[in-house]
Amino acid sequence: ATAGKVIKCKAAIIWEAGKTPSVEEVEVAPPRSGEIRVKIVATGICRTDDHVLKGFFPNISYPVIAGHEGAGIVESVGPGVTCVKPGDKVIPLCLPQCGECDCCLSPKTNYCLKNHFQGSFQNWMPDKTNRFTCRGKQVYHFLWTSTFSEYTVLPEASIVKISDEAPLDKVCLFGCAFPTGYGAAINTAKVEPGSTCAIFGLGGIGLSVVIGCKTAGASRIIGVDINKSKFAKAKELGATECIAPQDFKKPINEVLMEMTGLGVDYAFEAIGRIDTEATALSSCHAGHGVCVLIGEPPAGSQLSITPIQLISGRKLTGCLVGGWKLKDALPKLVSDYMNKKFNTDTLITHVLPFEKIGEGFELLQTGKSIRCVLLF
Ligand code: APR
Ligand code: ZN
Ligand code: ZN
Repeated sequence: ATAGKVIKCKAAIIWEAGKTPSVEEVEVAPPRSGEIRVKIVATGICRTDDHVLKGFFPNISYPVIAGHEGAGIVESVGPGVTCVKPGDKVIPLCLPQCGECDCCLSPKTNYCLKNHFQGSFQNWMPDKTNRFTCRGKQVYHFLWTSTFSEYTVLPEASIVKISDEAPLDKVCLFGCAFPTGYGAAINTAKVEPGSTCAIFGLGGIGLSVVIGCKTAGASRIIGVDINKSKFAKAKELGATECIAPQDFKKPINEVLMEMTGLGVDYAFEAIGRIDTEATALSSCHAGHGVCVLIGEPPAGSQLSITPIQLISGRKLTGCLVGGWKLKDALPKLVSDYMNKKFNTDTLITHVLPFEKIGEGFELLQTGKSIRCVLLF
């Protein structure tokens, strides 16, 4: 009954960088050609959303509706849409898979060129107009997902249907945290059985790396975090040891060298700081260690490395959303979850009604939550 009409609903608007999100009534226009309107059921809060709130990204336009870790149900589809139909359970993709660009056509990368690093155009729908208004003002989209709205509009490149039985309040984490960390271990590092891994940062992303390393059969999984309250969960998920840099006089890369003899086989940076990126690289085995960058440092940061660190044979790489081509990968990952191949529920430490989104951000900022899931 709502198809083709403007829907009024709740959304959290960040009016300008540095302001906390305010829950307001917004108008959501119907989907245009090639677009889908989705009723979001659940959404996680990721550190990247906090970066939007703080204004760390230069190519975000305000006022904006952030959020990119959601799950929902298709409400209506615009002309020409074939990949989903009303009633389908779906996950919005925080990295599109347009299927047509140079990267989508290559099996070597998931870096769809319609991503937001290529320009600011994900602040609008592909036709350069937006679907959200609030108090007479245009409100911008974020990553084409904007899951901090009860209804959101997505282009076909940014949506995938998942199993009808999937619990949306749980699989919303498959929109970002879980595939990002898990894929970094499985796809990008290709962790081998018996290997030694170090994970810097034990938030939602880092703990998902731990799950990936464990699934891949790593024999030592060393968690590194300044917040020791993260250690219990890391161990529950498969970390064999956890260390806090402030407990040592030596730099933590030297501590890791001593713990492992020649350095770790695989290091992952899931914090988003250039100092810890450099440390992660230095912790790797000089001849064949692989360092994977996952966290997003503030825009414009420069990482300084000594060439011999790489010439000796270390590899430095990185990935977005775990290297997955999300349209291809998510339905299978969700069914693997439903078949209990891995348990991502432990990553959800808090569940709040959507109206308490401000409290959800506070839990993340104060390090109290891994993932807080908001329910509409
Ligand atoms: N050394 C070690 N650990 C640190 C440090 C540090 N200097 N600074 C922060 N941490 C830890 C925090 O204590 C926290 O446990 O890193 C963890 C980061 O986790 P979250 O803030 O929950 O972030 P998460 O959502 O996991 O995202 C991590 O990936 O997607 C990107 O933008 C995102 O850069 C962010 C990163
Ligand atoms: Zn995220
Ligand atoms: Zn593409």
